[in-house]
Amino acid sequence: MSHFIEWSPIYSVSNTALDVQHKQIIKLMNDLHSIIYTYPNKETLKKAIIRIRIILETHLRYEETLMKYASYPECEKHRQIHRALLIKTSVMFDSHKNKAVSIKEILTFLKKWWLRHIILDDMKYIEYVSKLDL
Ligand SMILES: [Fe+2]
Repeated sequence: MSHFIEWSPIYSVSNTALDVQHKQIIKLMNDLHSIIYTYPNKETLKKAIIRIRIILETHLRYEETLMKYASYPECEKHRQIHRALLIKTSVMFDSHKNKAVSIKEILTFLKKWWLRHIILDDMKYIEYVSKLDL
């Protein structure tokens, strides 16, 4: 069975730690997606959502630290893109509590955002981050 999101080498940012984290977030989105289509009880959903939010925020901070350490000139702009995502997801998950937005809608948004962000924004820091001996 194919996953909701499939990892592909075209998403590699040529940094092992960041690739591992990007894959982990894709896996968490896939997990949440399968929960919705298998046994979507309230507790399981809640735990999966909390896990995604924590891991996502931790990853974005890690990536920001790496970009700063690598003296990536667009670091601040990139950081603001991350902040905007965290605000947007926070609003969406809050709206979900009031049943205004479904988890499917949130996942569709996150999938699109995530893959687009890796291709359009993350790829730009490769030449800087790859110079770090990590
Ligand atoms: Fe990023």
